[in-house]
Amino acid sequence: MRIGSIQLESPFCQAGLAGYSDRAMRLVARRRGCSYAVTEALLDTILLSGGLGLKKSIDINDEDHPIAGQLIGSQADTMARAAKILVDHGYDVIDLNFACPVKKIKNAARGGHMLRDVVRGVEILQAVRDAVAPHVPTTVSLRRSFDDTAASAEQFEQLLEAAWGYGYGAVRVHGRTVQQKYQGRAQWEILRKIKQRYPDRVILGSGDVFTAEDAVAMKQQTGVDVVWIARGAIGNPWIFQNARQLLDQQNQTGVTGAAAPLSPPGIHQQRQALCEHFAIAMQIHGEQVAGRRMRKMGIKYARFHPQAVEVKQAFIKIISLRQWNEVLDRYYKVDAAGVWPSPHSSDEVNNEPFSDKLLELEV
Ligand SMILES: Cc1cc2nc3c(=O)[nH]c(=O)nc-3n(C[C@H](O)[C@H](O)[C@H](O)COP(=O)(O)O)c2cc1C
Repeated sequence: MRIGSIQLESPFCQAGLAGYSDRAMRLVARRRGCSYAVTEALLDTILLSGGLGLKKSIDINDEDHPIAGQLIGSQADTMARAAKILVDHGYDVIDLNFACPVKKIKNAARGGHMLRDVVRGVEILQAVRDAVAPHVPTTVSLRRSFDDTAASAEQFEQLLEAAWGYGYGAVRVHGRTVQQKYQGRAQWEILRKIKQRYPDRVILGSGDVFTAEDAVAMKQQTGVDVVWIARGAIGNPWIFQNARQLLDQQNQTGVTGAAAPLSPPGIHQQRQALCEHFAIAMQIHGEQVAGRRMRKMGIKYARFHPQAVEVKQAFIKIISLRQWNEVLDRYYKVDAAGVWPSPHSSDEVNNEPFSDKLLELEV
């Protein structure tokens, strides 16, 4: 499986998720089977102004490849210049976000706005492709259309054709319209039809992939080349190895559907992932920001705990690092079989309690 010159080890990708898919989330996922990841949408003008904190959002390390840097913006010139910055920073692929449905983004002629402003979208596609060295693949993220009108479907087609025409290596399609935001079901049938029409193109499919079973089902039902795992990966880095395992099983047996339910991660595996995640987040963001980010992560991780409701409530109440450690010690110390979590050794993994310093977390 390739996107241009970039080889992917598996057909499952960690999606761009604003506020979540930083290097910490990506590395925790990569250590659990994720072989391709996309950054959250990075605003072109912020990249160009090089503001404080920019390094934090765009720094990658050797473990974090292959990776696509995702850009969002409204002007061909600034998008093209920002793309070059990401390439200089070592990004393997440049992805353009023409999908974001958030009001303030689309009203600023960014993201999903392109699906109703094809001229602008095409200009950006061309300018970015021209600016980026030929060996660096470019891709574009789209929704299936802006709304449910025939005119909108036509505009989607125009963008798709333009992307192929300029040599884009792949297109990601979220099976909802921009107007739908996150409501209703994503239409996988549309993904199937797109893949059927473009069998030789690389299509990433997106929408309603919440479990490893969903990821494999999308791949099999629609034929997309890569499944974009978004909300389903928040607090569930195991989804990647599970999806790979399930797909392998099904390819070997020829039987679709799970042979047996996938077992949830043990308590010690959950603790390990939480600790790794916090340690890397702290290196990137410092204690305060890492704490805020990890609380919302912890809330999502909690769903795998046998006392999920109680653990979720405990994460919600956290306002200090001391309390974070207490939650880990209370709920994640020992699993059902009485096995204590093993200590970690890698640089970016530290299972020791963090400082007692109070975190002024937003409640
Ligand atoms: C909190 C949140 C942040 C998101 N941020 C991004 C983003 O930065 N870039 C992007 O391409 N998509 C972003 N998305 C969209 C997801 O990547 C994905 O396309 C969408 O959630 C549909 O997939 P799902 O139904 O499987 O979650 C975001 C979605 C959510 C819920």
